Parts: sequence; structure tokens; C-alpha cells
Amino acid sequence: MHTPFTDLVGVRYPIVGFNRSPGVVAAVTNAGGLGVLAASAFRPEELDAQLTWIEEQTGGKPYGVDLLVPEKFVAGDPGDLVASLRAQIPAEHFEFVGQLLKTYGIPAASRPTLADDIAASLNPDGAAALLDVAFSHRISLIANALGTPPPGLVARGKDAGVVVASLVGQRKHALRQLEAGVDVLIAQGTEAGGHTGTIATMVLTPEITEVAAGRPVLAAGGIASGAQMAAALALGAAGVWCGSVWLSAEEDVANQAIKDKFLRATSSDTLRSPTRTGKPARQLRSAWHEEWEKAGSPAPLPMPLQPILVNEAWQRIDAAADAGHEGALALESFFIGQVVGSFTAIRPAADITREIVTDCEKRIAELGGLL
Ligand SMILES: Cc1cc2nc3c(=O)[nH]c(=O)nc-3n(C[C@H](O)[C@H](O)[C@H](O)COP(=O)(O)O)c2cc1C
Repeated sequence: MHTPFTDLVGVRYPIVGFNRSPGVVAAVTNAGGLGVLAASAFRPEELDAQLTWIEEQTGGKPYGVDLLVPEKFVAGDPGDLVASLRAQIPAEHFEFVGQLLKTYGIPAASRPTLADDIAASLNPDGAAALLDVAFSHRISLIANALGTPPPGLVARGKDAGVVVASLVGQRKHALRQLEAGVDVLIAQGTEAGGHTGTIATMVLTPEITEVAAGRPVLAAGGIASGAQMAAALALGAAGVWCGSVWLSAEEDVANQAIKDKFLRATSSDTLRSPTRTGKPARQLRSAWHEEWEKAGSPAPLPMPLQPILVNEAWQRIDAAADAGHEGALALESFFIGQVVGSFTAIRPAADITREIVTDCEKRIAELGGLL
């Protein structure tokens, strides 16, 4: 397949596999797509190790890295960032989360689980260390979500010959990103898992291709099949950026409990909620959301206070759910898009990639027959 995106990045198929599991990233790249690793899930030294591993697995084939640098975030004291951010969380919020865990009988963590420093680094300064690591590797693409790229990212990309991409959910975001000099726009519709806006991919993609002035646009949100990929190309996209579908991959690191819940879910079982990160993110609806929606529950806090508030709770819930704990299974959730309703099995990421691409080619050929 040839599109402006395959030409720009040097991949065989215009499909991106976004995931936090290096195994998925390597598998998508090796299957002819572009694997992109979610860097914000790691500390700099962990990211370094993961990128080295991906390079060993992919033998020179292109792959990318994704950062999450919010334009709006709560600032802390750089001297002791985590403590100063924690100090801004009202006692009422800690009590609410503590009571919620008690109500569902969630056991205490068996080993230290706090990852507050990762949440606290959700700002341009925190991302700088991850950027240094990413640019010390042979990445082909670097993407950014939740706002215009951090200072220097575009210039560093240009200097290093790395394609700079940005996720957008509205036309006005796209105009700002183009002004900042990004090479590729990712039009992410509301169907998507993770942080997402309110405009559907079907409406957003043509809006963004129109303003992109010839720069490649990838469609994201609601794409997990060949028919959906063909539809995205028909809308003018130069390729597709998929996230949720890889949560049904064998190589994905999510626990079996959430994968089982995904397999049972329908496309109506997700919601946009700020209760995990402080910004609206699409995830699987569970008892967790019912608790936050009850009258008298506190309002979620802004990023990164909300993740600092709930991260430990989520690590406890994930661990207990994985062990089959009933209360934890009721609360268990993770970021996922509406395509979760199409999951039927857990499969190797390479099989998923090949099936989407093959079905897309078939669909395009069939559409030609309509004329
Ligand atoms: C579990 C999960 C985590 C995500 N985290 C991020 C992230 O850290 N950075 C980012 O740019 N996008 C993130 N996204 C959004 C994806 O990059 C992608 O745009 C989206 O998944 C596409 O829609 P789909 O879920 O319908 O495939 C995440 C998506 C999921 C499902």
C-alpha cells in the first residue's frame, strides 16, 4: 500500500500500533506497520531499556514513541514535586478513595506500588527527560498528545530527521499544531480509548485533512478492522492510528482480568471520565465510575493531582482483580475505546495487523466493484 504516510515513514502498510507494551510495538513494526510506544508509562531509564529491546527485535525497521505533555496542568514545587502536588489534594478526596477501597474490600498492596513520580512528571519539564531518551534512539516518529508539542520538540525532530506527529480532536487544535510545525496530524475522534474529545472520527477526519494543507493525516478512534481502515482512507486519511485493538493482543501487558472484561464488553460499555487522570479519557465503565457519580462524591481533581490521588488505588485494584477478588473485579477498568465491542479473542499483534490490512485491501477492491 502506498500513501503519503508510508512514503514519509518508510513502512509497508499505513497502520500505526500505539501501545505501552514493547512486545506489541515490535510485533506491529515487524508485521509492516509502525509500532509506537507510549513513553509516558515509563521513567526515563525504563524507557531507555524498552527502546533498546524494541530495536533488538525489529532490526532497523521503523518505530516511534509517544509522549503525553498536557498544555494545562497543576504546577508543583520543582524542589519536591511529588510532595508539593500531594499537598494540594484535599483530605476529603483521600478519604473518599480510602472508603471506596474499603467498601469493595480491596486488600492493601503486598509491595510498594506508588508511581507518583511518573504522574508528577506530566508536564513539559518532566517530559524533557523522556524526550532526551527518545532522541538518543533511532526513532522514526515522535508523537505528542494533549496540546501543542513541548518547546524544542519540533526543532529536535527536524534536526534528527524524525517525523513529528500530534493528536488533535478539533480543527482549532490542528491549526495550532500546523503553526508549531508538526509533520503529521492524528485526527482522533471521540470513539477512541484514552483522552479524547467529543467529535466523531467520521466528522473530524475530513475536517482535519482539509486544514492539513497536504500534510499526511492519520485517522484515529474507532478503527479496529479492515472495513474501518478502508473507511478512514476513503475519508482522506493517509493511514490509521489504532490504540484499543492492541489491548486484545497477546503481547499486551494488561492483566487477564481486564482482558476478560473487554472480551465480554459491548460498544455501549465505555464512557469518557476524568476520574483516572483528571482529563476526560474513554475507559470501560465499572463500579468505580458509579461511585464517583453518586451524590456527595467529590469532583475529580485536575491533572496530575487526580492520577496521584488514584494511582495506588488502581494498582491495588488491578492486582486484586487479577487474583479473582470479587470487589476488585467489579471496579476493574482500563482505557479502551468503543471498538471494545468487536473483541472476540486475544491474539498475537502480528495476526491483528495482518488481518486489518488484508481486510482493508479486500474492502477497497470490493468498493471498486460498486462502480
Ligand atoms: C489504553 C490506552 C492508553 C492511551 N494512552 C495514550 C497516551 O498515553 N498518549 C496518547 O497520545 N494517546 C493515548 N491513547 C490514545 C491512542 O493514542 C489512540 O489515539 C486511540 O487509542 C485511537 O482510538 P482507538 O482506541 O479507537 O483505537 C491511549 C489509548 C488507549 C486505548
